[in-house]
Amino acid sequence: MKVPSSLSQAFDEKFERLLAEVALAEGLLPAVEEIRAKRFLTRSVAPHVERLTELFNRLDSEKPDSGLDKYWRKGSNPENLRLAYFLSFMPGNLYRMASVWSELSRLGFRWPADDNSESVSFRAVEFGAGPATGSSGILAGEAHSPVGLPANGNFALIEQDRGTLRLGERFFDAFRQHLELPAYSTRPFHRKLELRQGWLPSSAPSFHLWLMSFVLNEFHESPQQLAASLLKSWDKHLEPEGLAILVEPALRLQSRRILELRQAILDQDQSGEFQILLPCLGHQACGALADPEDWCHEEVAWWRPPYLRMLDEMTGLDRKSLPFSYLVVIRSRRPREEILPGLARARTTHRLVSPAFKVGSDWEFYTCDTTDGKRRSRLKQSQGEPIRGSILVNASVRGDVQASRIEKLDELI
Ligand SMILES: C[S@@+](CC[C@H](N)C(=O)[O-])C[C@H]1O[C@@H](n2cnc3c(N)ncnc32)[C@H](O)[C@@H]1O
Repeated sequence: MKVPSSLSQAFDEKFERLLAEVALAEGLLPAVEEIRAKRFLTRSVAPHVERLTELFNRLDSEKPDSGLDKYWRKGSNPENLRLAYFLSFMPGNLYRMASVWSELSRLGFRWPADDNSESVSFRAVEFGAGPATGSSGILAGEAHSPVGLPANGNFALIEQDRGTLRLGERFFDAFRQHLELPAYSTRPFHRKLELRQGWLPSSAPSFHLWLMSFVLNEFHESPQQLAASLLKSWDKHLEPEGLAILVEPALRLQSRRILELRQAILDQDQSGEFQILLPCLGHQACGALADPEDWCHEEVAWWRPPYLRMLDEMTGLDRKSLPFSYLVVIRSRRPREEILPGLARARTTHRLVSPAFKVGSDWEFYTCDTTDGKRRSRLKQSQGEPIRGSILVNASVRGDVQASRIEKLDELI
């Protein structure tokens, strides 16, 4: 996915210091300098990163661990576990959400103007917010790749762990100031979500922005059940023109689940009001789902904060680039080219769903499009430099889905 360089470079030493200050204020770090102290990271953070990684990998297996809801309290030192999540997993997830926002912005999405209201405002809600990761991702996205979010807004944070929720409130506010954004507020809801009861109580208001970052995979319902519960809630609690952004891990199981969720949303939406806006540029049957061994995901590169490079070396994790799966759903009957005017001139779109490899003087890659689903294609290197997620606009394609050549195209975006 193409991300503006200011966003990929935003997680620098100043960001690192901000994390350290927030963690210090929450009593999770003994001193600001400790964030880069080898001894502290080795003893107090790295072991917990390893435990969390093991836990998340278990979640990624075919049989998720049902005792997961207690994971913040597991072991003798929940503060260190929270700190490990905050330092090691939160920044990457924040950046993933910000990248999705930047994709919306790059394709021309603009926050709908409300001519009837004098003080335009918005309401966002984040489920399983952890340390307000997804909401903070929207802040980073808007700061570096704006879509015109109104200056007044509130983020409702729903989270089952009280300590993490408090950390999230503090971090969100510090990060918002760091980015010099308007005084967006948060409202914490310490709550354990049970899908039998719905995502929100019926007395809850409707929202313009619905965020889920690495949380759907903690619910063991089938994609069809998840789609039914989401559609039911969106019907009541997602505003017209509202967006739902769901970000999930990139592994085969979770990616296929989100592809199945996409299909289930399309199958079950009787109203025809909900469109899948991204990453798929159409409502075609998914080419990856057709093959049980296949899946589809995105990837973003960034400059990691310095302490995270150290932590990655200690734990053997490599977060130089960040894979993920995602879906953006919009409640709108407007045609896609009106919602994403960056594609207004596109009669056809082919989206890269793999990396592009150099083969002789060509690029070779897989694309997904509305007519044939997935196809293997080649493009002359002189015609541009595609990456995973790039879009070929109005490509003339010769050949079949096994081997085709893009002969001409209007734009590579
Ligand atoms: C993997 S973490 C992701 C946190 C955050 N969204 C992020 O991207 O960094 C999953 C979060 O969802 C919360 N969670 C899981 N199941 C939940 C439930 N049933 N109700 C409320 N929160 C839940 C967990 O406590 C945890 O904070």
